[in-house]
Amino acid sequence: MAEATPLYETYMRAPLRFERGEGVWLVAEDGTRYLDFAAGVAVNSLGHAHPHLVAALKDQAEKVWHLSNLYEIPGQEKLAKRLTDNTFADKVFFTNSGAEALECAIKTARRYQFAKGRPERFHVITFEGAFHGRTLATIAAGGQAKYLEGFGPKAPGFVQVPFGDLDAVKAAITEETAAILIEPIQGEGGIRPAPKAFLQALRDLCDEHGLMLIFDEVQCGVGRTGKLFAYEWSGISPDILAAAKGIGGGFPLGACLATEEAASGMVAGTHGSTYGGNPLAMAVGNAVLDVVLGEGFLEHVRDVALVFRQGLASLADRFPDVIEEIRGEGLMLGIKAAVPSADLLKAIRSEKMLAVPAGENVIRLLPPLITTAEEAREGLARIERASETLTAVKQRATA
Ligand SMILES: Cc1ncc(COP(=O)(O)O)c(C=O)c1O
Repeated sequence: MAEATPLYETYMRAPLRFERGEGVWLVAEDGTRYLDFAAGVAVNSLGHAHPHLVAALKDQAEKVWHLSNLYEIPGQEKLAKRLTDNTFADKVFFTNSGAEALECAIKTARRYQFAKGRPERFHVITFEGAFHGRTLATIAAGGQAKYLEGFGPKAPGFVQVPFGDLDAVKAAITEETAAILIEPIQGEGGIRPAPKAFLQALRDLCDEHGLMLIFDEVQCGVGRTGKLFAYEWSGISPDILAAAKGIGGGFPLGACLATEEAASGMVAGTHGSTYGGNPLAMAVGNAVLDVVLGEGFLEHVRDVALVFRQGLASLADRFPDVIEEIRGEGLMLGIKAAVPSADLLKAIRSEKMLAVPAGENVIRLLPPLITTAEEAREGLARIERASETLTAVKQRATA
């Protein structure tokens, strides 16, 4: 019998124990090397043990770990300046996680309406298939029954409509609407990019009705799509953006970005966090940006993404019994499986490669952004072998 665990049993963990990581590789306790194209679910943006991040963390650890937000923290000002210089935003609030960045984004939107003399506007329109986190407000925003069940009444103020359905959005707007919240590419929902025209139409609707447009870029932001943030592909910008995951490269860090106007209600005392913007997190966040904003880095992401796209398209052609469709942008890729996605994930893991499950029977590939073309081809070869195995199994079953 398996030994009882002292941990909450909220996760279905794979029986794998990793001891260390090197770039795109994770090394298990028994020495087996796994190609890590899960990257901590889009967190290890620069892979494992990146020397620049390690040096930044060590250097800061020898100076000061934590200061309260009662004092000025130069690392916050530096990181916020770089984020605002490179985006639509004028203001930044730092958090420790994605859900907290979303909480800040939702509070910012509601508070904006409040400050404009419209306190009745607190509803946020969200989309089916969304995932925004596991706090009480973000499970209400995500609207997924499996995450809401048993936790008491759903937090009020969230209205959900089908993804990509503009008429449904229009019909959902009332005198109580404060904001529209969307992932430009749904991650957990199954790597579903929102069409550019849809995002542009949401921008127009928000302008017309005085609503805040919030983008959740917790998973798709910080270089993952080949731009610093995914909104840059859409030709429009949001009023508020939540980032996390890749921004800390593995150190817990999130950020809520907003225009000056959107953040105008967030005056002294309206929000706070003990750890948000802690000096260790700021040192690592700044080090991540040193690399991601470095010359040619985003171009590298786009180039490697092309290697993946072409390779995956060819695998989809060759193994139609296993791969139904390839989705995504940049290094946020989805393989819609023609077999149960759990079987594909298992077959890929048997080839010593890690990927992540998602909705709609999709497997997510979220490789570190430093993945080289050669490492991409190694990953493709492993998916090919997994597809061969599954094709053979399927053929045997139908023979
Ligand atoms: C799009 C999106 N939003 C929010 C979150 C929540 O982030 P966290 O788990 O850091 O709270 C996630 C996490 O997977 C996510 O993918």
